[in-house]
Amino acid sequence: MSRSRTLAETAMERCDVLGAISDEPDRLTRQFAGEAMHRAHEQVGAWMRDAGMVVTRDNIGNLRGRYEGAAPGGPTLLLGSHLDTVRDAGKYDGPLGVVVAIAAVQRLHDIKRRLPFAIQVIAFADEEGLRFSSTYLGSRAVAGTFELSDLEHTDAGGVTMADAIGQFGGDPARLDDDRWRDGKLLGYCEVHIEQGPVLETRGLPVGVVSAIAGQARYHITFTGQAGHAGTVPMRGRRDALVAAAEFVLAVEADASSHNGLVATVGQLTVHPGAVNVVPGEVKLSLDIRHPDDSVRLERTRHLLERARQIGSRRNVEVADRLLGDNPSAPCAPRLVSLLAKAVDEAGVPVVHLVSGAGHDGVTMASLTEVGMLFVRCKGGISHNPAEAVTVDDVAVSIDVLGRFLELLPTLGPE
Ligand code: GLV
Ligand code: MN
Ligand code: MN
Repeated sequence: MSRSRTLAETAMERCDVLGAISDEPDRLTRQFAGEAMHRAHEQVGAWMRDAGMVVTRDNIGNLRGRYEGAAPGGPTLLLGSHLDTVRDAGKYDGPLGVVVAIAAVQRLHDIKRRLPFAIQVIAFADEEGLRFSSTYLGSRAVAGTFELSDLEHTDAGGVTMADAIGQFGGDPARLDDDRWRDGKLLGYCEVHIEQGPVLETRGLPVGVVSAIAGQARYHITFTGQAGHAGTVPMRGRRDALVAAAEFVLAVEADASSHNGLVATVGQLTVHPGAVNVVPGEVKLSLDIRHPDDSVRLERTRHLLERARQIGSRRNVEVADRLLGDNPSAPCAPRLVSLLAKAVDEAGVPVVHLVSGAGHDGVTMASLTEVGMLFVRCKGGISHNPAEAVTVDDVAVSIDVLGRFLELLPTLGPE
């Protein structure tokens, strides 16, 4: 355990280093294929090389480090997490899983130990979807489920995804090369902060994820009529913002009255956005999640219909656009059991949790078996600069991941 502690101290320092690499001067925002991601790759690539890995970057912009197994031609285990962040992020959502994976490989490299399988650590390019309102671009490319039509999406500055990939050094015409083709996979395992309060409440450093809740994201546009704030009478206004505001409250009320449902309007833009102009157009986002896909789909249909009803009562047009729909993804029972065994061997009571947050494992599940280990985070806070984990808990996660690697050859049949 003391080696895990030293590795954890390094992992914490590395999260601090990455936490200072941002596209914005006074807060952490590291978007897909941006300038900060370049600098993050230089750092992470150097750490991967120090841990004995051969480092490559694929077309979509995932950084990959490969640590060979004892004999060529054996299977591969994928480890990793993502390096992109939300706007004004904390330091651990994503990067922690990358540096913990590197730590687990470092421990093997230090004692020149080769396992009966190779390990590839992947630092995924886009889990949060900040730049293109996308999700899982990096893991979709690896899993072979990337939608080529997404390449035409534009960011807030009008840059297409295809151009962003090209500027970052990838070839958007060759994304198919990123698809996994390097032989048999044993699975994909990700360490991630919990982003919720369960582990803290139970007084446990880590927990085993049993499933990842499904989620959908939409853009909804309310189009009314802009007009003079001083002369257009209140009666008969077609104010897009008051229609949108009514919808936001309806979303909150609906999610609050359905157990397990969470729904969020996190973006809202008002046009033309002037003090003395009745808002003519509002665009907002809707993020909706539930562990049971049938409930999520039913409530989504209801809310989109509700938006149209509000619009028709207020003489405001409503249009919705689906940005992404990801069904809930169970973790693989074999990997769940193996992680639970590793947690137990580490002397920690085993708890299983469902993840309300999305993870690249959702996409990777179409390629291989997926397992996840959560690390306790302070107050369950994330997507917030106040995100915090302790070095002791990170040490436990490194210890557990090391045990998991040693247990993997005992994996039973699928
Ligand atoms: C990613 O963090 C998500 O669940 O939105
Ligand atoms: Mn996140
Ligand atoms: Mn994440």
